[in-house]
Amino acid sequence: MVRSFMRSSRLILGLVTALTLMASPAFAAKSSKKAAGPNPTQTAMNDALAKYKDIPEGKNADYIPALAKVDPNIYGIVVVTVDGKVYTAGDVTSEVSIQSISKVFAMAKVMEEQGPDALLNNMGVDATGQVFNSIVAVEQYKGSEMNPMVNPGAITTTSMISGATPEEIWGRIIGIHSDCAGRQLKVNQEVYESEAATNQRNQAIAMLMYAYGHIKDNPLRACDIYTKQCAISVNAKDLATMAATLANGGKNPVTGKQAIQTANIPKILAVMATAGLYDDSGKWLYATGLPAKSGVGGGILAVVPNRCTLAVWSPGLDESGNSCAGQAALDAFTTLTGWSVF
Ligand code: DON
Repeated sequence: MVRSFMRSSRLILGLVTALTLMASPAFAAKSSKKAAGPNPTQTAMNDALAKYKDIPEGKNADYIPALAKVDPNIYGIVVVTVDGKVYTAGDVTSEVSIQSISKVFAMAKVMEEQGPDALLNNMGVDATGQVFNSIVAVEQYKGSEMNPMVNPGAITTTSMISGATPEEIWGRIIGIHSDCAGRQLKVNQEVYESEAATNQRNQAIAMLMYAYGHIKDNPLRACDIYTKQCAISVNAKDLATMAATLANGGKNPVTGKQAIQTANIPKILAVMATAGLYDDSGKWLYATGLPAKSGVGGGILAVVPNRCTLAVWSPGLDESGNSCAGQAALDAFTTLTGWSVF
């Protein structure tokens, strides 16, 4: 599926130019100086943007009614390096809900509170080979043999975050997201209410995970907090900064704040590599060699450990719930730069 986006050589051509330039040491050196002419980083990313923004594939998620109303033309690309340089092209300020990308940061919070084995011992860290909200995947192994990136594992992950009240739990969730983004994030109330009114399937998943003993109590509360977490409002620049925090050993490279424990980063990236794009994670990893995470809002981020991150925002999704143009851009990027972890 990832490769199906590579058909159009017209689209790839611009990114080839952009990323070849970006990958070269001369480019990096030039871009850190104040040049008299146009900044080469900006020129290259603008070029990539121009070639990709009209990619025809994909459509907005509509099972969450508010997402169907998101402007399908939002298209932004951001690179953040581990030394804190930020390169942007296109629309990097329009805010859309983070959706499943939040699962990464909820996972980080549980690992911080309970250690790296808590999630492993609860729902597991294996690929399900099923769609992200599969009930079959829950039934197959009674809620085990899955991972924190698919909805059953993610709702369970959220249920494990400490706090005596929903407000306390929420404070911890929004706190880690904001620390990784480097600014105080908020919830898009319309998206939250829209999903909360239509998330009966996730409620059923939460009840099943409770029935099988993975969620210890309050399954519907966990589902509600998870729904709110998915409605956190971010732009492409936030996403890239959050990912750069992962690339930089858990320390936000823009603010300098240690947001995630360094020791947990390799395990978080391993789960992203295994299941970040759900049942397409194998194809994704084969194509790019990078841990990544997508969300049905249209965001997708990939992490080049100890180097940089690339985030793309484009709401048109494929049938697995992953951004079409996001995958195409990131696939081309990593093919050209050779930035595979392998
Ligand atoms: O639970 C859901 O269905 C959404 N709030 C999140 C799903 C999602 O983002 C899947 N990712 N690509």
